[in-house]
Amino acid sequence: MANELLYTGKSKSVYAGDDNHTCILEFRDSATAGNGAKKAELEGKGVLNAEITSILYRYLEKNGIETHFVKMLDETRMLAKKVDIINVEVIVRNLAAGSFSKRYGVPEGTPLKNTVLEFCLKSDELGDPMMNESQITALGIASQKELETMKDMALRINALLSALFDRCDIILVDFKLEFGKHDDRIVLADEISPDSCRFWDKATGKKLDKDRFRRDLGDVLGAYREVLRRLKHAQPL
Ligand SMILES: Nc1ncnc2c1ncn2[C@@H]1O[C@H](COP(=O)(O)OP(=O)(O)OP(=O)(O)O)[C@@H](O)[C@H]1O
Ligand SMILES: [Mg+2]
Repeated sequence: MANELLYTGKSKSVYAGDDNHTCILEFRDSATAGNGAKKAELEGKGVLNAEITSILYRYLEKNGIETHFVKMLDETRMLAKKVDIINVEVIVRNLAAGSFSKRYGVPEGTPLKNTVLEFCLKSDELGDPMMNESQITALGIASQKELETMKDMALRINALLSALFDRCDIILVDFKLEFGKHDDRIVLADEISPDSCRFWDKATGKKLDKDRFRRDLGDVLGAYREVLRRLKHAQPL
């Protein structure tokens, strides 16, 4: 029997696993930007993002980060621990870019005196508004203890990924994480890919991420392929 489709997101589909503790994330070729305003099918993106995510999640697991990753079932389908997603996106910033630059009027690439952590409500209808910790705890989206765990994990993930991408001659500018609860433990869920990160080539500053799609810079998949090629070369495992 085919596994039941639980949810169709903008870039992935979620299926039930063979038991109640697992689910299957299928990485599709769909690309969206501007909260779904811009859409395209980029043939091969699903395979690239699935492989990049699997490399990064195995690397993070090996370095003490609990993730939902179990194994790849094929080129686009990942078996994961099924989690209750915590309804905030955690954004980690090493350099100013994107919405941060726009909101605070600072040029992209401006160095930051400390790592910036931001929380946004996961809500497409509301446009993922930023939330502070007291707002998150007031609405019962996460407890203060859970927030502390997510912040601690996000900073450890940033240190691990920044070091790995540095070896790839890539600057990890910023990225978005999602966490979930599995057996009362907080684990890293969802994906880490050029869809959810900003990657800049260290030598040239060339963008190697979804900004190529958002800003019509061309050769989106060539950039994703380059990230994967360099990651494989760095042999993180
Ligand atoms: N291990 C997991 N267990 C359950 N749900 C998960 C897990 N990992 C990721 N998800 C959820 O699966 C969905 C993946 O689909 P996709 O990323 O395409 O969604 P999306 O369009 O970005 O929408 P959303 O706003 O819900 O994130 C997301 O809702 C994500 O939160
Ligand atoms: Mg998503």
